[in-house]
Amino acid sequence: MKGILLAGGHGTRLYPLTTSLSKQILPVYDKPMIYYPLSMLMLSGIRDILVVSTPAALPLYRELLGNGNQWGIQFTYVEQTRPRGIADAFVVGRDFVGESNVCLALGDNIFYGHGLPTILKRASSLRKGALVFAYPVADPTRYGVVEFDQAGKALSIEEKPQTPRSNFAVPGVYFYDNRVLDVAGSLEPSARGELEITDINNYYLEKGELQVEILGRGFAWLDAGTHESLLQAANFVQALQERQGMMISCPEEIALRGGFIDREQFRALAEALQTNRYGHYLLQLLRDEFKEAEF
Ligand code: DAU
Repeated sequence: MKGILLAGGHGTRLYPLTTSLSKQILPVYDKPMIYYPLSMLMLSGIRDILVVSTPAALPLYRELLGNGNQWGIQFTYVEQTRPRGIADAFVVGRDFVGESNVCLALGDNIFYGHGLPTILKRASSLRKGALVFAYPVADPTRYGVVEFDQAGKALSIEEKPQTPRSNFAVPGVYFYDNRVLDVAGSLEPSARGELEITDINNYYLEKGELQVEILGRGFAWLDAGTHESLLQAANFVQALQERQGMMISCPEEIALRGGFIDREQFRALAEALQTNRYGHYLLQLLRDEFKEAEF
């Protein structure tokens, strides 16, 4: 399976922070925001990743992420010239995806929770259809909202409904079979002028080929798209990391534990960062006799 990281858009809700800077490069405590959804793709076992952003911001992502060799993965870059909607990722990413199945991760979505790597690995083994998640939120009107019947079967998905039929939002990590390319290609813009990811999800739902997996209390899903939520996300990451002494969404660590790079490659990455706590953490990992099982 291939991955797409969507990191474009105007980021107007974060102005003036994002007047001259791409939103998904802003810091969330000790890492650029995009490291968090990138980690989701890496934890899914995906190593071939397309980064989509604006013509102005794409060079910044190239500088930040490089070709991916340092983490044992491969980045390709493509411009989205206008924010035509989330589903447009599959239009601009068509050549990159080719014959593969694909996972799309939104560049401002942050996830954390016990067992997430197992859930993601299972999702990325999807052969046919689509798989999305559902997460309870206090204010569903800001999201795609999924309604379930008594048996837990998904009945409908609506984008930013004024009167939501449930409090389950659909977070920004989506798994699809290759048909998504044609589905995205045939979409018409919605009333707000965007190619909607919710329309793609409804296509699969209507065919009875959409799996919706609930992420419950044990998980954190944060989107860092407003001033308040950006600070909340940073505070969350700091609190957890300080308490546990373990990093959230550290690509170097995921690459090592996932066997994408070896210890010597990891050591070189750690030594380059040894003047700060991020690097100290990496060096400590090397000293610890870490066990695969704890991951
Ligand atoms: O966060 C999950 C939600 O994301 C879903 O529940 C909704 O169904 C989905 O529509 C989306 O809602 P948002 O209103 O949060 O989407 P937003 O326009 O903020 O875009 C999400 C990210 O994708 C953001 O980091 C910017 C980027 N983006 C967005 C558009 C429309 C692009 O790179 N290009 C685009 O054309």
